[in-house]
Amino acid sequence: MSFDYNMTRVNRILNHPDYKKYLVQLQERERERKFCCHNISHFLDVARIAYIINLEMKLDINIELIYSAALLHDIGKAVNDVENVGHSRLSANLAEPILYDCGFVDLEVECILDAILNHNNEKIKVSHNNNLTSLLYRADKLSRPCYMCDVRNLCYWSLENKNLQLKI
Ligand SMILES: [Fe+2]
Ligand SMILES: [Fe+2]
Repeated sequence: MSFDYNMTRVNRILNHPDYKKYLVQLQERERERKFCCHNISHFLDVARIAYIINLEMKLDINIELIYSAALLHDIGKAVNDVENVGHSRLSANLAEPILYDCGFVDLEVECILDAILNHNNEKIKVSHNNNLTSLLYRADKLSRPCYMCDVRNLCYWSLENKNLQLKI
């Protein structure tokens, strides 16, 4: 069995010097973090859950858009939020030049940045859209193993958002 879809641009992101730098910075910043971390494991969990939902629901969203959005959605946590804009906005700002460097075109960049900007926007939860933005929102939430977490009672997530059972 072979997978013949093209992941060239996703792999360019993984090898992009700025992306690699942000991953190292994230690791440094979250070294003492007791809650869920924002690392490559989280990004790949989100990408793969999103892709599973995409297949199950026959959404037919391009795999490179899904993986790119997932890989980049939290990189804003690698830098200081001096203007207090939130990590979604910071992530989108850092992601934009990387996406163009890796060969994504305007419409694709727009779509990926919208998903990144709204990945923690509660309004997306009730929007019932089946686009990349709602896919990333859902996969991000589903990715966290609250059922195994020692500090879940200290976490800011509401009880209804916590994954107390494995769903996917
Ligand atoms: Fe996030
Ligand atoms: Fe996340």
